[in-house]
Amino acid sequence: MSIERTLLLVKPDGVARNLSGEILARVEAKGYTLVELKKTAATREQLEQHYEEHVGKQFYEPLVKFMLSGPVVAAIFEGHRVIEGFRSLAGTTDPTTAAPGTIRGDFGRDWGLKVQQNLVHGSDSVESAEREIAIWFA
Ligand code: RTP
Ligand code: MG
Repeated sequence: MSIERTLLLVKPDGVARNLSGEILARVEAKGYTLVELKKTAATREQLEQHYEEHVGKQFYEPLVKFMLSGPVVAAIFEGHRVIEGFRSLAGTTDPTTAAPGTIRGDFGRDWGLKVQQNLVHGSDSVESAEREIAIWFA
């Protein structure tokens, strides 16, 4: 068994819709351990680092603006295979087709905007998780 950590963000749409508790409860109920938690206003500098892989894509600037539109809740969760486990709880990127039972499938929809508002972020690899945790919990 190896203990893994992931960075979870409840994005501004999730916070604005009062879904932070519901989302965190699903991750805790699955059995992962909450290590750190805070509500914070992201800075452009943090988001430029966090989303550096998406620089130049059509949705990049709308994504940064969306993430600056209100507070986020940042959390570190821990457990064996938590990265994969949380991505599974979150569902696929497009909330229209994300499976029912997932966070994005149950609470998300397409609002016809320039970027998908899909409630949560979860790290996609051990390397990403280490990098992202350093950005949000310096
Ligand atoms: P995340 O990083 O937030 O956990 O989501 P993800 O891996 O499922 O998706 P990713 O490809 O990393 O994209 C990051 C976020 O950008 C927004 N997005 N909108 N075509 C679009 O409108 C579009 N594509 C991506 C979403 O908010 C996505 O989660
Ligand atoms: Mg991603």
